Amino acid sequence: MNSRHNARRHLLSISDLETADIERICDLTESFAEVSRRRIPRVPALRGRTVVWLFYEDSTRTRLSFEAAAKQLSADTVNFSVGSSSVNKGESLRDTVEAIEAMGIDAIVVRHSCAGVPHRVADWIDASVINAGDGCHEHPTQALLDLYTARNRLGDLSGASVAIVGDIAHSRVARSDVLAFTAMGAEVTLVAPRPLLPLSLEGWPVKVSHNLDEVLGEIDICYLLRMQLERAASLDVPSLREFRAEYGLDSARANRLRDGALIMHPGPMNRGVEIDGDVVERPNTVITEQVANGVAVRMAVLFLLLGSGLDTSENESMAA
Ligand code: NCD
Repeated sequence: MNSRHNARRHLLSISDLETADIERICDLTESFAEVSRRRIPRVPALRGRTVVWLFYEDSTRTRLSFEAAAKQLSADTVNFSVGSSSVNKGESLRDTVEAIEAMGIDAIVVRHSCAGVPHRVADWIDASVINAGDGCHEHPTQALLDLYTARNRLGDLSGASVAIVGDIAHSRVARSDVLAFTAMGAEVTLVAPRPLLPLSLEGWPVKVSHNLDEVLGEIDICYLLRMQLERAASLDVPSLREFRAEYGLDSARANRLRDGALIMHPGPMNRGVEIDGDVVERPNTVITEQVANGVAVRMAVLFLLLGSGLDTSENESMAA
């Protein structure tokens, strides 16, 4: 994967990927989704390789999904828990990472509340680094699973209209999704009140709307984000009640979506705020599919990074 740190060894940002790389990951995901559906979902592709999780922030889906992906590829996994580590004794990130690498690991999956941490880690060590969410910056594997899920349902995304609704300012998912969906030719509109948009959108290939009701009837994908209050520095953000009134997807709003338009969410959801419980149950709400596809997407990413990279077609036969 093309990174200025080391071509095709890390996945730090969606911008490291060419459109052809994204296509390749989606194709390989297809094969691994088939593996995941088997009675014994396991292939020997990464036997003898070791993957470590370094999560400095909470996670349910992303961590479990990486773990399931590594296990299904027969990799060994080591879970580093910040709470019970020497981080509590004041050990620096760099010393922690170098100590982990000295134990002979092949990949490190990093989540941290500060933007740029996975990039720094990639500068320090030889193992592959995968960004599992860095502050408000990026979450590339989430965007890849979102793309895969949307393509599975809608087919070619070129010309598709995607609204990303809610707390864009504090969302690493929004940044990665904007890059991923536009790379596939979709048009993205950010729908949020001003305090929930980044201060500058210069260079973002997006349109902006402050009115969800105006865009609902024109979109193919309604991608909802929760209010990420734990990351909000400003007091200027709307209350949950105000947010729900203007931007929450309740039944009445969901009824105004086009037939077949998808409702997506990266989780965790705040039911009754950005999405109502009955909207979650609709046939075009693909939130559970996103979670399920996350395992196969992460299998594809681990396999491509730890196999011999994106260059060989030989690799792909190992999924069979
Ligand atoms: C997101 C995250 O942690 O960035 N969740 C996820 O990984 N599925 C979104 C969020 O926290 O709202």
